[in-house]
Amino acid sequence: MRIDVVTIFPAYLEPLSLSLVGKAVEAGVIDLRIHDLRDAAHDRHRTVDDTPYGGGPGMVMGPEPWGEKLDEVRASGGSAGPVLVIPTPSGVRFDQSMADDWSSAGWLVLACGRYEGIDARVGEHYAGRSDWAGVQEVSIGDYVLAGGEAAALVMVEAVARLLPGVLGNESSAREDSFAPGEMARRVEGPVYTKPPAWRGLAVPEVLMSGHHGRIADWRREQSEERTRRVRPDLT
Ligand code: 6GU
Repeated sequence: MRIDVVTIFPAYLEPLSLSLVGKAVEAGVIDLRIHDLRDAAHDRHRTVDDTPYGGGPGMVMGPEPWGEKLDEVRASGGSAGPVLVIPTPSGVRFDQSMADDWSSAGWLVLACGRYEGIDARVGEHYAGRSDWAGVQEVSIGDYVLAGGEAAALVMVEAVARLLPGVLGNESSAREDSFAPGEMARRVEGPVYTKPPAWRGLAVPEVLMSGHHGRIADWRREQSEERTRRVRPDLT
């Protein structure tokens, strides 16, 4: 799939060259392109923000550089348009089912703004464009970040690991916390590896029993108990 990220801090996205996402890019599974919004600002200081109409604190990113850069990104692709993702604390909550949908979208463009936000006409404009596949304003949680970049890292990684061929063991994506199906409203229970005893703590006997049915039952119980305890909002 193709993923474009537009930001005034391209270096913030450098971690995407590491680890699982980095390998997916190297393998050609993801065509990842990072763009500097300031390339579309044409004054001597490469200004991309201005004071908010109506007053108030902070600055708002202006629509003109965004329009120019997003049009340029769109023109570099084919006939199937991208989904425009705008990370913002006032968006709908990002979750595993959204990551799942996006992993089959074909093309995502993430527009990272500073937290005071991007002029609202940008989202409105691209929502009405038939050469784009829609606009989604999305938050990663109920707290405020300084900009959308850290959220974009989160969203790209959550999507990347669902793409065919990216995870070593494809069953791990199916059994994850929040995975569609049985795990959709559950977190995973505890996991263990060698040694069998460490600092006086033993690995639960059932996991060494070799009884696959009993192990599956135990894991389900642990997952349900932990979900009730730490995430009662899911039950
Ligand atoms: Cl997506 N952006 C910003 N700036 N802050 C956030 C967020 C996004 N999600 C939670 N807080």
